[in-house]
Amino acid sequence: MSFKRNLADRTGLPLKVLPSSYQKVGDIILIKLFGEAAKQKKKIGESVLDMFPYIRTVCMIKGITGEYRTPKIEVIAGDKNTATIHKEHGCIYRIDVAKIMFSKGNLTERKRLINQIKPNETIIDMFAGIGYFSIGIAKNTKVKKIYAIEKNPTSFRFLRENIKLNKIKNIKPILGDCRSVVLQEKADRIIMGYFPGTEKFLSTAFSLLKDKGIIHYHNVYKQSELWSTPLKQLRKSAEAHGFVLIRIMTKKKVKSVAPRTYHIVIDAKFKKR
Ligand SMILES: C[S@@+](CC[C@H](N)C(=O)[O-])C[C@H]1O[C@@H](n2cnc3c(N)ncnc32)[C@H](O)[C@@H]1O
Repeated sequence: MSFKRNLADRTGLPLKVLPSSYQKVGDIILIKLFGEAAKQKKKIGESVLDMFPYIRTVCMIKGITGEYRTPKIEVIAGDKNTATIHKEHGCIYRIDVAKIMFSKGNLTERKRLINQIKPNETIIDMFAGIGYFSIGIAKNTKVKKIYAIEKNPTSFRFLRENIKLNKIKNIKPILGDCRSVVLQEKADRIIMGYFPGTEKFLSTAFSLLKDKGIIHYHNVYKQSELWSTPLKQLRKSAEAHGFVLIRIMTKKKVKSVAPRTYHIVIDAKFKKR
């Protein structure tokens, strides 16, 4: 039986007002509720708690805001403690879902990225968060070194803790704005796991790239802009920094973020002219 159907049977609420999906982070479930469903949040929360015996807390996501991607969360059933341990791709992440966002939509992306890493690479993760990309890569590949940059002190605290929890030695966490961080070396691969407005960070990405390297460019675009706008932005910035785009390895929609608007990723290879 679907989650939605099960919830309708348990709450007596009409199917059309109920959410069809949820996000599980550790032993916490996060759901989005609108209109009538938001009014019945306690009833829905208790029903979700009954549905999953291993779940301790149910939270309603009210939004994600700002450059730190800070979530707005309300506990609607169960234990009030919003900190948990989440397991993914053989790694463990300590996270407080009320303080830091964890995107389920990016799960496949994280796996896809792990599969592309070659031994001995140096990587710069420009928007490391709590280590979603960096830790998964360090744990599952033979990468040489990862510089994981994060601007939000709260995320950075979790990033450092998660590096330790996973017993990783080759990630250097750096607190700061990726645009002003000074590094001793350049990277074979740059991860730009942030949006919107990621194009404003391309200049930094090229200044951190070796003479030949790969950029994983995430951003948000309207359907009508795909794929000409992001490709134009990549080519223009590459040229300004003396690079040429030699190959687009992947270009894909990761998820829909609004009507006809998508979170996309482009993996592209560049070399110095
Ligand atoms: C979307 S989250 C990271 C998500 C993660 N890469 C993933 O895909 O699951 C983006 C992170 O970038 C951080 N951030 C935003 N602006 C930044 C900047 N200028 N320099 C470094 N980190 C920044 C935010 O605090 C946030 O933790």
